[in-house]
Amino acid sequence: MPHIFMRNAVIVIAALGFAGLGAGSAFAETPLERGTYLMNSIVACGNCHTPKGPDGKALAGKELSGGDPIDSPVFHAMPANITPDKDTGIGKWTDDQIVAAIREGKRPDGTIIGPPMPIPFYRAMSDTDVHAIVAYLRSVKPIANPIAKSTYKIPLPPAYGPPVTHVADVPRTDHVAYGRYLATGLGHCMDCHTPAVAGRADMTKIGAGGNVFGSPNGGTILSANLTPGNPNGVAAWTNQQVKDAITKGTRPDRPLVRLMAFDWYKNMSNGDLNDLVAFLRSLKPVKSP
Ligand code: HEC
Ligand code: HEC
Repeated sequence: MPHIFMRNAVIVIAALGFAGLGAGSAFAETPLERGTYLMNSIVACGNCHTPKGPDGKALAGKELSGGDPIDSPVFHAMPANITPDKDTGIGKWTDDQIVAAIREGKRPDGTIIGPPMPIPFYRAMSDTDVHAIVAYLRSVKPIANPIAKSTYKIPLPPAYGPPVTHVADVPRTDHVAYGRYLATGLGHCMDCHTPAVAGRADMTKIGAGGNVFGSPNGGTILSANLTPGNPNGVAAWTNQQVKDAITKGTRPDRPLVRLMAFDWYKNMSNGDLNDLVAFLRSLKPVKSP
């Protein structure tokens, strides 16, 4: 759609002219616009941090005020209230403290944020995008809602790695690389879809699935093998069918279990969806067990 591309190009040029941005940061949007887009699409912090009703949909008016408990054999995790409420949310934290919480899993008091928050993936979030997310977090309605502490039967690591200082933007002209960034740094698709060994994603088998999740319908469900090594999934589908799985939660033969953030992913731009699909098609084929 060349005219849409042209329109964006005009906006970029206008932003360069009026805001005097450097050529390296040629986003058309303000940080708040970028953050609003990301948070309501690929990033979807709300899939964990917003409480849901019996239909599995996020409760209106409660955005980011603390999510439903997430249980595993080794933890009972309580997604925190991350609204700007000063007493029960993160209203007193500085921008840098919020950035450190997202990318390094560190709270201002030095304690470590535990799983299943996908910190190891968020470490790859660019400076531009993590600050855009902070701008959005500051813009949501403060909600007073105290959340109980999580409990862990496993020791939390002292840190998730060395401090994250500078993460550059991934060029959107490289569609597979940007798709990888969407699926890892921003969206943590590959957290659920990469086999975990001793609690850590085995990136030599990125996208091969096979992780066990408690299904909201009862019982358990395995994350799908998204690599071309699975003949019954993405590899056999058209690009549109892959996009429908991500944004509508449907396989060609049946609806998918409601674990993924379909209600957020449906707001992704077609360009971002195309890049995600291009990335999935580029994965090393791994056979389904
Ligand atoms: C898969 C679920 C999940 C996702 C996705 C997720 N979180 Fe969390 N988050 C949690 C859980 C669970 C905790 C509490 C962990 C604990 O108690 O140690 C938490 C804790 C936090 C905290 C610490 C707050 C406090 O007061 O201690 C912040 C800040 C936070 N998350 C921000 C975010 C942001 C921003 C995003 C999106 C970029 C995000 N989270 C995505 C599950 C998630
Ligand atoms: C919370 C974990 C989780 C996250 C995050 C997640 N997925 Fe999934 N995904 C699953 C599970 C579990 C299934 C299988 C559901 C079923 O079989 O009904 C699945 C199914 C799929 C399917 C259908 C494939 C098939 O062969 O049936 C696609 C495509 C997909 N996911 C892509 C993605 C993409 C792209 C993202 C990121 C934008 C993502 N997923 C994020 C857990 C997740």
